[in-house]
Amino acid sequence: MTRIGIIVGSTRPGRRGTAVARWVEQATLGHTVVTTGQASVEVVDLAAQALPLLDEPVPAMFTDYRNPHTRRWSAVISSFDAFVFVTPEYNHSLPAALKNAIDFLYFEWGDKAAGLVSYGVQGGLRASDHLRLVMAEVRAAVVPTQVSLSVFTDFDFSDFDASDPTAAGVLRPGAGQEQDLTTMLAEVSAWSHALRGLRAADPGMGANGSAGLEPDLATERAG
Ligand SMILES: Cc1cc2nc3c(=O)[nH]c(=O)nc-3n(C[C@H](O)[C@H](O)[C@H](O)COP(=O)(O)O)c2cc1C
Repeated sequence: MTRIGIIVGSTRPGRRGTAVARWVEQATLGHTVVTTGQASVEVVDLAAQALPLLDEPVPAMFTDYRNPHTRRWSAVISSFDAFVFVTPEYNHSLPAALKNAIDFLYFEWGDKAAGLVSYGVQGGLRASDHLRLVMAEVRAAVVPTQVSLSVFTDFDFSDFDASDPTAAGVLRPGAGQEQDLTTMLAEVSAWSHALRGLRAADPGMGANGSAGLEPDLATERAG
């Protein structure tokens, strides 16, 4: 069975991220990949993980983790076969909290499929573009179909004070968003399945902590 983790990429009090993640979770629970028993789903909230700013002395590709919070985070991410990232756009990119959480690990993301659900004033597209590049670096395979929600057209503010900057609104995804999500989830499941052989052949956690990379490349990356 494919275990899909929905990563909530924002940590801000009053964030819209939790509503978006709930929508993704509900759609996944109703998707054939789950109803036919091929996949299961779990939400991973970065706010609950409470990771500090990266405080590991050794780069993650050596898997020489010194801190209990890193080992805990490694165990969480290792337990999944695939991910859906729920990310807002912050200043033209993904939130620092999400980038930091990714940087803590390396092989735990590798040879796994990922789908992107972004949101923002302009659909969070710059965040998802940047996240694609980041995930390529940690050897994840991001599927082509993605969901892009607009704060203006996919959230309803009719019961909120329009001048209140903390008003989260109510998530009401527009026509076509659910279909894109359904397609994306099918791709995540299929790609995760296709990558299973690679994950089995290269579990990534070697005895010296640098398995999966040639020694020269591991040293170069660490430098
Ligand atoms: C620090 C910050 C920077 C933002 N920068 C952008 C941006 O560059 N582009 C954009 O479309 N929206 C931007 N926004 C709007 C957010 O995408 C929108 O408020 C979203 O709901 C934030 O996610 P969250 O509610 O989960 O924190 C920004 C919001 C914050 C808090």
